[in-house]
Amino acid sequence: MQKLNINITKNNILYPITIDSNLLDKIDELFDFRGYTSIFIISDDNVAPLYLGKVSNSIAKSHDVPIDSFVFKAGENSKNLETVTEAIAKLVKLNIDRKALIINLGGGITTDMGGFIASTYLRGIDFINISTSIVGMVDASVGGKTGVNFEHLKNYIGVFNHPKAVIMDIDTLNTLPKKDFVAGFGEVIKHGLIYDKNYFELVTSKHPANFSKEELVEIIKKSCEIKADVVQKDERESGIRKILNFGHTAGHAFESLSFDTDTPLLHGEAVSLGMIVAAKLSELIGNITHEEFIKIESAIKESKLPILTSSYQLLAIKQKMKLDKKSINQKPKWTLLKSIGECDWNVEVGEKFIDEALNYVASPGRS
Ligand SMILES: NC(=O)c1ccc[n+]([C@@H]2O[C@H](COP(=O)([O-])OP(=O)(O)OC[C@H]3O[C@@H](n4cnc5c(N)ncnc54)[C@H](O)[C@@H]3O)[C@@H](O)[C@H]2O)c1
Ligand SMILES: [Zn+2]
Repeated sequence: MQKLNINITKNNILYPITIDSNLLDKIDELFDFRGYTSIFIISDDNVAPLYLGKVSNSIAKSHDVPIDSFVFKAGENSKNLETVTEAIAKLVKLNIDRKALIINLGGGITTDMGGFIASTYLRGIDFINISTSIVGMVDASVGGKTGVNFEHLKNYIGVFNHPKAVIMDIDTLNTLPKKDFVAGFGEVIKHGLIYDKNYFELVTSKHPANFSKEELVEIIKKSCEIKADVVQKDERESGIRKILNFGHTAGHAFESLSFDTDTPLLHGEAVSLGMIVAAKLSELIGNITHEEFIKIESAIKESKLPILTSSYQLLAIKQKMKLDKKSINQKPKWTLLKSIGECDWNVEVGEKFIDEALNYVASPGRS
């Protein structure tokens, strides 16, 4: 069993992350449920049939407390205020009070949205995250960013608020669709690129599906450590936390434009494309060499993550990027590489370079 803590001493925030096999059967041993008036589990309709029963049985075996649930349709198109309203309507109908506990059981969409629901219902009630996807385990379920999309603008509504605990049972990854599993490595590779060159080399040394269970636990732990380190230095993203946005400026634009198409991008896929754009920009402004860029591009490609977007309109992408949360005066602020393993943030780049990098990621000739 691997355990680590998120500890933001300045704001009195401390919570444990537990990573291991076979944890869902002993949830009652991993968190102190005493004192809660009821438990409300939020999950999506892929994850709920697989694991919701297991989690509630595990709690019910040692706690006599009402357990209810809210299950939404899986996917980014549900991550919005309408679903939040439905969940809150159910909380109100059940008279769930402020001494209740919300459990978010699922991937990044569930923990982002469930965290937001818990943070705003009755001005905030306690919640824990039981993370079941790679994106969730290595990124979304830790660090305290919660929220939903607004009219296809990614994560436009949200609050910073942390769970009381995070539990990651890696056995749940056995049922995660392969495409989602691989997409999760987009965020894993990001952690290496922005913070630790050796980690980048390690996680791109083979195809994501070929890591053993033990290696996977180590990877999840290392990514959580990197995230913890960054978040502990800058919880509210006034500085260094912005490095975690590497690949997300263009990535979020690709992701939201793909929502209504026949081939919506998974978050990690969109981030991979966004990392190609950001790495290209890092090369164009002279921060990294062409060889380093090619190394990054090949590593992403070898991991079977996308490096080429088939069709997009330059103008539409640029319009979306202007609306990115990090844009100031409609100018995107980029997180760019200084080298592999090191980052700069708040970088402004000229239109010409942005066009060149965006055109690059859409040029079919190269891959
Ligand atoms: N808050 C943050 O810091 C942060 C960081 C990274 C990503 N995110 C957000 O996370 C979201 C993406 O996360 P995701 O990729 O986990 O999406 P997700 O929650 O939709 O999960 C991906 C898919 O896998 C299914 N699934 C999840 N776990 C499963 C399991 N164990 N077995 C079977 N199916 C399973 C889900 O139903 C879904 O269809 C995006 O909305 C992104 O913005 C947030
Ligand atoms: Zn992300």
